[in-house]
Amino acid sequence: MKTSKTSSSKRDLLSIQDLSSLDIDRILGLASKLKKEHKAGRDRQLLRGKTLGMIFQKPSTRTRVSFEVGMYQMGGTAVYLSASEIQLARGETIEDTAKTLSGYLDCIMARVYDHTDVQKLATYAKIPVINGLSDAFHPCQILADLLTMKEHKKKLKGLKLAWLGDGDNVCNDLMLGCAKTGISMAAACPKGYEPTEEITRLARSEGAKTGAQITMGDDPAAAAKDADVIATDTFISIGKEGEWATRESVFIPKYQVNSEIMKLAKKDAIFMHCLPAKRGQEVTADVIDGPQSVVWDEAENRLHAQKAVLCFLMKTA
Ligand code: CP
Ligand code: NVA
Repeated sequence: MKTSKTSSSKRDLLSIQDLSSLDIDRILGLASKLKKEHKAGRDRQLLRGKTLGMIFQKPSTRTRVSFEVGMYQMGGTAVYLSASEIQLARGETIEDTAKTLSGYLDCIMARVYDHTDVQKLATYAKIPVINGLSDAFHPCQILADLLTMKEHKKKLKGLKLAWLGDGDNVCNDLMLGCAKTGISMAAACPKGYEPTEEITRLARSEGAKTGAQITMGDDPAAAAKDADVIATDTFISIGKEGEWATRESVFIPKYQVNSEIMKLAKKDAIFMHCLPAKRGQEVTADVIDGPQSVVWDEAENRLHAQKAVLCFLMKTA
């Protein structure tokens, strides 16, 4: 799958594949700085007068609120556009929508089902487009995850991350993010639920440049062994609710993150989850609510990482 469109001088973020290792480093550095400034009550008005349009085809808590608050904290504003309440719902094309919105806004963030929808938006918009989650990728989540790992582990290169569960949109971009930052990722996914071979190949070729090993298997214990980070996501992504009957027996109990799995990882391993979580499905309550869990930092870091992405794409910092 083509992860992103290639184009002119404007930049989009449709997948982590759109960022070089150096870009990621710069974004994480800026995110840490913006976070410190915010905590000290010294937010800079880096996006004064800028407006972000946020198109949502799917529900959201973190993405919607963190983008809106992030724009506000930097002196800009955000407009929420439910895809069911704009003319897209009546058949106006993505192309015409992108061209129209380019006349009002400075940046678009879109959460879509089909990844080609956000690619089309980026192709026809004259302004930067950010993927706020498609069925294929979730780059904003991965930047927040990398920031969280950097804060807790004081480095990225050389870490080992174990992914248990669905080879979904978060897993795809996490593989690319790990590969580009030198984190080795061992994924354990049930057969038939692995990330596509194309994404795995891409991640492996990125990993070859940084020393990150990207391995794929179906054995959670092997993946979790000596890991610095254990990560998972819901077994039922938005839009896949009808698959629960089949997925339940495939994923549970084998791919659930529980205290037994956590014991196989390093003693100081952290547990990560992009949220929303289903306790008792992909993770047990004692793990997600326990001392090794960093999920609330991870959720908060969406705000700081995205503020950096907005400045990076709008070229204001
Ligand atoms: N993790 C994440 O993207 O959360 P929301 O679906 O609440 O935005
Ligand atoms: N994989 C999940 C992520 C939610 C943030 C989904 O697509 O629903």
